[in-house]
Amino acid sequence: MKFQGINIPKDVTIKTMVLNIHTNPEIWGPDAFKFNPERFADGISGSCKLPHVYMPFGMGPRVCIGQHLAMVELKILVSLIVSNFSFSMSPKYVHSPICRLTIEPEHGVNLLVKKIHK
Ligand code: HEM
Repeated sequence: MKFQGINIPKDVTIKTMVLNIHTNPEIWGPDAFKFNPERFADGISGSCKLPHVYMPFGMGPRVCIGQHLAMVELKILVSLIVSNFSFSMSPKYVHSPICRLTIEPEHGVNLLVKKIHK
């Protein structure tokens, strides 16, 4: 079998980090490293060339058992937050994405939060 131009002998196992797959420009396009939630506007299937390689909760027999609870919790949390507060970026924010376990802002994200009065 050939993989990226290299001959892979029979019975050889290839492993890679999910992070590499989730940031591969051949799959996600030239802006693969950019934080761009809009890429999911048409769902996961419209977000990249190989949607089946998107696996934030893992894959197979050890897949995250809390994934559906996590998604429901996040939807409730985000809807409560955006319906009660408005946000803008603080001038203190320094853009510096860094790869630790996941890609995250090295110095955090400073936001200015304003309560929405209803
Ligand atoms: C956004 C939130 C979460 C993310 C991104 C996440 C992601 C993951 C990932 C990547 C794995 C490893 C899957 C693998 O080995 O292939 C995992 C495993 C696991 N997750 Fe989550 N998880 C989240 C929330 C939760 C919640 C809310 C719970 C429980 C209420 C949970 C319980 C577990 C458990 C028990 C495993 C181990 C499953 C096993 O090894 O059989 N997770 N999770």
